[in-house]
Amino acid sequence: MYPFKAQLSTTLVRNEWYVVATGSELGEKPVARTILGRPVVIFRDGEGKAVMLHGLCPHRNYPLGDGESQVVDGQIQCGYHGIRFDGTGTCTFVPGSPKPSRFLSVTAYPVVEQAGWVWAWTGDPELADPSKLPALDRPELYDPSWDHRLDCYYEVIQGRYMLLLENLMDLSHLSYLHGDVVQDVSIADRRLDVEEDEHSLRAIRRMDNAPIGFMEATLYKAEPGSGTYYYDNQSEYFSPSLIVTGNRLPEGSPEGFGSNFFIHAVTPETENTTHYWVQESRDFRVGDRELDEFFIGANQIIPVQDKAALEFIESTPESAKWAERAQQFDRAALRMRAKIEERLVEEQAVSATAADQAPATV
Ligand code: FES
Ligand SMILES: [Fe+2]
Repeated sequence: MYPFKAQLSTTLVRNEWYVVATGSELGEKPVARTILGRPVVIFRDGEGKAVMLHGLCPHRNYPLGDGESQVVDGQIQCGYHGIRFDGTGTCTFVPGSPKPSRFLSVTAYPVVEQAGWVWAWTGDPELADPSKLPALDRPELYDPSWDHRLDCYYEVIQGRYMLLLENLMDLSHLSYLHGDVVQDVSIADRRLDVEEDEHSLRAIRRMDNAPIGFMEATLYKAEPGSGTYYYDNQSEYFSPSLIVTGNRLPEGSPEGFGSNFFIHAVTPETENTTHYWVQESRDFRVGDRELDEFFIGANQIIPVQDKAALEFIESTPESAKWAERAQQFDRAALRMRAKIEERLVEEQAVSATAADQAPATV
């Protein structure tokens, strides 16, 4: 199944934390979504904790996050006949019955709220360890002394999640697809280094002698044409659910210059559609509303261009059996793909073994 070579029953890595909502989305109304092919409902329980349950009522399959369903006292009340479930998925109330039925519970998924996002785990619940959240130690995601613009962008892309991940690991397209915003054709021509350690995989373009131009004038209030500087233009893959892209500036950069990143949360909705959230963070001009507006504006353009490109690709009939012609600049994306494929093969071998060992039913 494209883009993997192995025989796979699914392209979805299940044992992973995925973003399923922003924390600010969980207000009065429940949120109904499909996450890795499963209908779910996301809301806050009586203690304000974010929870995610199976999204269909076991009585008649009415959606628990949609229609007339609502959150009542931190529990979800089905909009059809009023049966209620608490944040653990336990049925707490059945209209007209003296006590709730134990046959009416729904699955509750492990959930953690971090960095402004709600992360859930749809794989083996025994493996859902919060310390496995990606990039936990990275200041660009969690450090409160940085500026974090949550809610920069959210859309469902009508394309498979691997198209988006590969797009994010291949920033040569900045010069072309986003040329109107980035205005630097030289990015695509720079040498690409690919580095890897146990935490992440990085695609880095070392931007020596980068001219101070339009973008620098906007970001750093520098005078266009006033000189050159140095930065790393990079993409860093942490997991199938998280890639961080951006510009990292070394110590000793000109005063007022700093690093800025886009944090991309990628969550398969189905095998062929993808939830896409973007956050921005930076360590300069913290709290500067004018620069916030610039980034908010850029996020009305750049991810929209990516979405359009990926949907063009996905919608071509050839994309399902695509024979690609990989180039030098695809190296990081291909390495990432290999890592994901390894995980898929491993997960599917474990589930096949578990199925073999399950007692036969009669
Ligand atoms: S379908 Fe939910 S209570 Fe009947
Ligand atoms: Fe892009």
